[in-house]
Amino acid sequence: MRKSSPPPSIDLVLIRQAILDDLPAIRKLEQQSATAAHWAEREYDALFAPEAPRRIALVAANEAGTQQIQGFVIASCAVEEWEIENVVVAPDRRRGGVASALIHELLRNAARRGAVSLGLEVRESNVAARQLYEKLGFSEIGRRAGYYRDPIEDGLLLRISIAVP
Ligand SMILES: CC(C)(COP(=O)(O)OP(=O)(O)OC[C@H]1O[C@@H](n2cnc3c(N)ncnc32)[C@H](O)[C@@H]1OP(=O)(O)O)[C@@H](O)C(=O)NCCC(=O)NCCS
Repeated sequence: MRKSSPPPSIDLVLIRQAILDDLPAIRKLEQQSATAAHWAEREYDALFAPEAPRRIALVAANEAGTQQIQGFVIASCAVEEWEIENVVVAPDRRRGGVASALIHELLRNAARRGAVSLGLEVRESNVAARQLYEKLGFSEIGRRAGYYRDPIEDGLLLRISIAVP
C-alpha cells in the first residue's frame, strides 16, 4: 500500500497590533536585515510610551498567543498623511505575501482613521521593496538626492492615496 503523503503545511499568519512583548522579536528581525531602517533600542521602547509620537506597529504572528513573528510594519500616523517607517519580513518567510498582508492591514487602519495617503521613502537599489510597493499601487512622487549613507544613494519618495471606506 502506498503511504499517503503528509498534508501540505499551512502557514497561518495573523496580523495584529504589536505589544510590548513583541519588541525583542521586532528588534531581532530588524538587526538581521541590512536594508531595514535601523533604530536605537530607546526608539523601539518609545513606541509604547504614552507621550510618544503617534505610531502604529503591526506584526505578522505565527498564531494567536505566541511572540514568534514573521514580520512587522511600523508607521507614523499624522492625521491625514501616514508614513511607513519600517517594514521587515524574516528572510525565510519572504515572497509569501507577509509584507503585502501587513501593508494591506495598515491601509485598512489608515482608512478607518481618516488618513488620505500613505507614503514612504526607499533606497533606489532596494529592488525587493520597490517591487513590493509598485505591486501594491504606490507611485513615485519624488527623489531625495544622496539621502542615504553607507553607501550614499538617492531615496525615492512613494505614495498611495487611500480610498474613503
Ligand atoms: C521588502 C520585503 C519587506 C518584502 O517582503 P515579502 O513578505 O517578501 O513581500 P511579499 O511576499 O508580500 O511580496 C509581494 C510582491 O513584492 C515583490 N517582491 C517581493 N520581494 C521581491 C524580491 N526579492 N525581488 C523582486 N520582487 C519582490 C513581488 O512583486 C512580490 O509579489 P510576487 O511574490 O507575487 O512576485 C522583504 O524583502 C524584506 O523584509 N526586506 C528587507 C527589509 C527592507 O528592505 N524593507 C523595506 C524598507 S523600505
